[in-house]
Formats: sequence, C-alpha cells, structure tokens
Amino acid sequence: MPPYPTDLDPDEQRLAQARLGELAEKFTEAGALRTPAWREVFQRTWRHPYIPIYYPDPGGRCLLSIDPQRRGEWLEAVYSDQTLLTKVVQVPLSPTLRPGTAPLLTSSSTLPSLVLLMLEELDVTDGHRVLEIGTGSGYNAALLCERLGSECVTSVDIDPELVELATERLAANGYTPTLAAVDGAGGYPPGAPYDRIIATCSVQAIPPAWLEQAAPDAVILVDVRGKIGGTLVRLSIDGDGRASGRFLPLGTGFMWLRHTMDFLPPP
Ligand SMILES: C[S@@+](CC[C@H](N)C(=O)[O-])C[C@H]1O[C@@H](n2cnc3c(N)ncnc32)[C@H](O)[C@@H]1O
Repeated sequence: MPPYPTDLDPDEQRLAQARLGELAEKFTEAGALRTPAWREVFQRTWRHPYIPIYYPDPGGRCLLSIDPQRRGEWLEAVYSDQTLLTKVVQVPLSPTLRPGTAPLLTSSSTLPSLVLLMLEELDVTDGHRVLEIGTGSGYNAALLCERLGSECVTSVDIDPELVELATERLAANGYTPTLAAVDGAGGYPPGAPYDRIIATCSVQAIPPAWLEQAAPDAVILVDVRGKIGGTLVRLSIDGDGRASGRFLPLGTGFMWLRHTMDFLPPP
C-alpha cells in the first residue's frame, strides 16, 4: 500500500482542531472521557495521519485522503465519532460451490468514543508499561504514546503490512513505540512484564500468555465475545498472577483475534 500523504492545510487544521474540541465535549458529557489528562491527550493527538484511506462500504472502493473531490468527506469522517474500516481483503468463496470472492474486513480504526472509554478504564499512570494487542491504524498507540511516552508503549498486530504502515505513520508524528508483527495471543515477551494489557480485537478466552506477562497489580482490558456478542472485561492481576474482575456494562463488537494471516474467520 503506498504511503498516502495526509498533511492538512491551515483551514483543514482549524476544522480538525474544532472537531476534536467538539468531540471532547461530547465524550465528556457522555462519560467516555473522564480525566483531564486523557481529554488533553485526545485534543492534541491527530487521528488523520493514521487513516489516509478508509472504506465507506466494505464491498466498494476506498476513500483516499489524496482524492481532491472527496477530501472534505474524508476529513469529516476522520474527525467524527465513527469506526472506519481501514483494511478490506477479498477472500475466495468456495471454488466449487460458489466461485468468486467476498470482502472480509480485517482492520479498522475503532469508534473514538470507545477508544477513549477503554483508555480511561485502563487507568494508566505515568511510568506504566502498556501492551496493546491490535495495532491496526496506529491511532490508539499514538494516544498511548502521547499520554505515557513512546518508551512505555508496545503494540503488536498479526498483519505485517499494518505494522509497517503504523511504524511509518507514528514515526512521522514523533512516536517511536515498540511495534511487532506477531500473534498477540502470545503477548510480546521481550517487553514483559506489562502494567496494562489492552486488546482491540475480541477473544473467546483470555490467552494464558497475557497472565504470564502481566506485572503484579496489572490490568487486562479486552472484549470477550461469544456467539451472542461481546462485552468488555476488566481484570486485575493479584500477586500470585491470578486474574479477577468484572464485565463492564458495555456491549462491544471488535474484530476477532485470529491466529493466521489467511484471513479465515474462526469456526
Ligand atoms: C479493531 S482493529 C485495531 C484498531 C487499532 N487499535 C487502531 O487504533 O486502529 C483490530 C486489529 O487486531 C488485529 N489482530 C487480529 N488478530 C490479531 C492477533 N492474533 N494478534 C495481534 N493483532 C491481531 C487486526 O489485524 C486488526 O488490525
């Protein structure tokens, strides 16, 4: 994927800044933003560098930051409370029963109000070391770097192309977290132990590696999803490495954590 430029002209910058202010107000009223620290971080972290393209419709063409006809639409979408699909791949249907392909969504930039709500629930303090599972666009990693400093942030994604793009885009904005293309079900041992582990993809059960790599008093925040939908779970780790916690009253629907790059959904 080519690196699409996302520099904003002064008018666009003013618009983006105004939208961030409006969203911050809205998220605060709704309870998604609760602390001045995250409110400030949200308002000074651009989202557009991480989403130069998105798919308004999974089956259709992507919308590009460089399309002069639709640039305004792109910018409005990026600075609104919307989940934006950032990667869609065509997967083969059954060659015998149904030839052809169908679009499969493999990455998105999560709804900003949910991103902020999760970051607030993560309850970080200065010096905390955070592991994010599901780098995706890199926007959530950018927020974490802005809050804690790049040296405290590790983020992994199973898709090497996404990790490469996020590395470039984060670096272009002054962030240098540790990024790796690995199956996040195994955590990321080189950076362990972590004070906070946040997953932006859904699991059916908590991977044991996350417990092994959690520091005493760590928090794990993840969407646990079954057949009837997902719910955010916030677990605290005790001194013996045992996790206990609560389901938060919030239905979520992240993409599945998958173990391969063949893009097959889990059974
Ligand atoms: C909703 S997106 C992440 C959004 C991201 N945090 C952002 O700010 O844009 C979910 C991501 O999880 C990734 N993912 C799926 N399975 C994974 C796995 N086993 N390990 C790491 N990442 C995985 C996908 O490739 C996708 O990019």
